[in-house]
Order: sequence, then C-alpha cells, then structure tokens
Amino acid sequence: MNKHPLPPLTHIPANLQTIADYEQQAAQHLSMQTWSYLTGGAMHEISVQQNLLQFQDIQLIPRHLNDLTHGHTQITLFGKQYPHPIFLAPIGHQQLFHPQGEAASALAAEVMQANYILSTFSNTAMTEVNQNYPFKWFQLYWQGSRECSLPLIKQAEASGFQAIVITIDAPHVGIRDRERKIFFQLPENMQHPHTPTHISFPDVSPTEHPLFNGLMKIAPQWHDIEWLINNTQLPIILKGVLHPADAKKAVEMGVHGLIISNHGGRILDTTICPLHALQKIRQLVPTDYPLLLDGGIRRGTDIFKAIALGASAVLIGRPYIYGLATAGALGAAHVIRILKEEFEITMALMGTATIKDINNDHIYLD
Ligand code: GLV
Repeated sequence: MNKHPLPPLTHIPANLQTIADYEQQAAQHLSMQTWSYLTGGAMHEISVQQNLLQFQDIQLIPRHLNDLTHGHTQITLFGKQYPHPIFLAPIGHQQLFHPQGEAASALAAEVMQANYILSTFSNTAMTEVNQNYPFKWFQLYWQGSRECSLPLIKQAEASGFQAIVITIDAPHVGIRDRERKIFFQLPENMQHPHTPTHISFPDVSPTEHPLFNGLMKIAPQWHDIEWLINNTQLPIILKGVLHPADAKKAVEMGVHGLIISNHGGRILDTTICPLHALQKIRQLVPTDYPLLLDGGIRRGTDIFKAIALGASAVLIGRPYIYGLATAGALGAAHVIRILKEEFEITMALMGTATIKDINNDHIYLD
C-alpha cells in the first residue's frame, strides 16, 4: 500500500513462497484506495479476521503407512470431474488490480486446471473467457427482476459455463468503514459488459421506507430461485448460505449445491464462521450433497480441514487477487500452484490418497 504503486512483476522472485508473501507483495502494487477495497470488510472487520482464525484451533490427526500410490485430488460435482477442489471465487472489477483483470485470472485458472467462477461485475465479458475451457461457472447478481436476470443465464449457457452461482448474501452492500472514510469509488470509465444498463430502482414515495420499499423491493426471494431452477438446465448453486434452515429450504427446493460463505467478511460483520456453519449444515443435507466452503483459506492444511469437516471443494478469493496484483496471470497461477502443492503434500502427510478418504476422523476439535 503506497503512494506510488509498483508495476506488476514479470517474473516470480524466490521470496514469494506463501500466500502471506503474496499479500505483502501485492500491497506494493496497489494504491491505498484499492488496497483498502480489497482487504477491507464490514464494520470492525471481525469476520475478516475470524475467517482466518477459524482454522487455527482445528488440529490434524495424521494416519501413517497407508498405500498412497493411487492418490489424486479429483472430485466429482454435478456429474462432472474437476481435477482438484480449489476454485476461484467470483470477484468483480478485477481491472482494479491488474490491467488484464479477469482475462488474466481466468487464464491462470486454466493453466492450473482450477474451476473459475466469473463475476457478474467482471470487466471481462463471459464470451472472452476461453469457450472451450471446461471448468468455469458464472456468478449471478440478481438484476432487479426475472426479465433482466435470465438473459445473463442464457448467455452463460451459450458461452459454455457449467453452473450458475447466485450470490444471496448481499442484497445491500456492506457497511465498510474503511472504504467510506477514503470515499472509495470505482473508476468512472470502468467497463462492466454484463451490466451495461443500470437497474431501474423503484420510486419510493416520501411516506415509504427508503430501504425496505426501495432496494429490498427488487431483491431476489425464494420464489425467484425456484423460478430460475425451472428456467435453466445448469445446476444452481447458492452462495452465502449460513443458516441451517436456509440450507434445508434450498435442498428441498431443488437447489443443486451451496457455498457456505460470509462473503469474506465484506457484507455483515460478526457472522457465524463459515466452518462452523458448514458443520451444522453438513448434518442436515443428504450425504454427498455439494457444500463448498469460502472464506479464510490461506494454506493447504486449511483446504484439508474444510474437506474433513464436510466441504466438497473450497473457494479462494483474496489470495488469487494478491497473485494477480503482483504479477498478473503468472502471479495468480503461482498462488493456485502454491495452495495445490501444499494441499497435496498435506494429503500425503495425512495418509489420505483421495478426497473421499478425508473425513473428520482426521480432525481433533477442542
Ligand atoms: C462485492 O461482492 C464485494 O465483496 O465487494
């Protein structure tokens, strides 16, 4: 974070070995405004911190002398095989971090065979992401109505995206003190190819409530999710589920998978930790129902713990942006590689040959 951000690196120096190293390095390449936007969160940022700390008290119990010669990291979701369980979370406006934006992070995902989730608010159009890359999902922010939301889904279908992620935890932006204090704003000339027109907000009369009769009037509801399920062949995944009752409702409605997330602590502060929510929700949903964990993953051991506690895969967010800001596609790919290698070595040291072998027998909870 500085007054004169450095240009992105064109090679990776040896001192970048961990996600923490990349975080430090990324700060050198971003303005204070962008750094605050990237690393900040809602209110006291307690959830931002707790997302990181949630893994600390979980201890690993390794098994030794197992035959691991047939080991691999493949998983199957919605009938499709993914090479490994490290997915890239949807993050908008990536040209803030590197001039090539999502085009660079999608390329990094492709090189590392990671599933890429493209944001509604990307600066790169979905048609610009390699049409033939098989591991990509599209994230939908509800566009105020069914008529305005469905075309994005149809475009995602036509562009080869394999699933739709609907973010449900942000019907209103979070109260982010840091951003407010510095008057953070997106650059005026920034292109958002999926949201070319502004959502038309309802007129609120002076006797009506500005929030509840305004923005909340055009926020999505359960019946809209049900309608979306019936209007696409693609699996629908809800992102931002924390309450077990919501998880149950989603499963009953036919939602195909859930991302257990508090949006990186960016929307509502002091929520239940995603790992705790995951454990509660795992007890309620059918065995093998896809539950993905998002928030706080910084090491391969974190990925192992999330899977041991019931996650089918994990999402990484800020870590790949640290890589992107540091060295574009090269940096983002290196970040994924670091986590993938750490996870594979953790699997080997834990005596688990496949993802299916990872379970809570390997975990000690105080
Ligand atoms: C929006 O999704 C944000 O986290 O800023």
